[in-house]
Amino acid sequence: MTDPQEFIQSNTAPQHPPLVPEIRLHLANEIVPLWRKTEEELAAEGVPPPYWAFAWAGGQALARYILDHGLNLPSVLDFGSGSGLVAIAAAKAGAGHVLAADIDPFAAAAIAFNAAENGVAVSVTQDDVIGEDHGWQAILIGDMCYERPLAERLLAWLTARAKAGALVLMGDPGRTYFPKTGVEKLATYNVPTTRELEDREMRETSVYRLGV
Ligand SMILES: C[S@@+](CC[C@H](N)C(=O)[O-])C[C@H]1O[C@@H](n2cnc3c(N)ncnc32)[C@H](O)[C@@H]1O
Repeated sequence: MTDPQEFIQSNTAPQHPPLVPEIRLHLANEIVPLWRKTEEELAAEGVPPPYWAFAWAGGQALARYILDHGLNLPSVLDFGSGSGLVAIAAAKAGAGHVLAADIDPFAAAAIAFNAAENGVAVSVTQDDVIGEDHGWQAILIGDMCYERPLAERLLAWLTARAKAGALVLMGDPGRTYFPKTGVEKLATYNVPTTRELEDREMRETSVYRLGV
């Protein structure tokens, strides 16, 4: 069984996401072996696809927006946190208690590691919190509309939370299952990315508020 902490340390390098240079994350890049490993090779090592090893365009845009506008709320959830980028931005932007949720144990380890490196406090859960309410005033969603069953469950829950008064912010570069209605566009960024990940070098990515 591969140890997540050890795996992260030997397969990533510290980097600053281009749109959020004030945050340092341990991510994959061309010089670490993880970049070249296929999903099959990783599965043989007991490692799920390493979404946590990249700062996705949606997460970068949302982190930038939060850092520039502040997020002075007592309790905030970053759902599908991956590397922890958005949760770390929320903590830096003034949020009180920040919970990062990701069902991948490697992501959970990466979030804790990256939060500590940035000197911020972020709690981590591996529970699937869709459908739950722990009194979060804001729910943050970085690049989560890439798969239909997940997006459908997620949007039903987020719509209910927004109706109940939560601020639901989503960063998205136009993924297939991002909602076409019920969102207000707040800001747009050009996010530098890589051809390996996105098939292009720049992705126009927006931050939206759901349910307004
Ligand atoms: C494309 S990545 C986005 C990561 C990060 N938000 C960003 O923008 O860089 C999607 C993440 O969602 C996580 N995920 C998928 N289903 C989930 C669920 N039901 N609950 C929590 N996390 C989930 C995956 O493990 C992965 O880390």
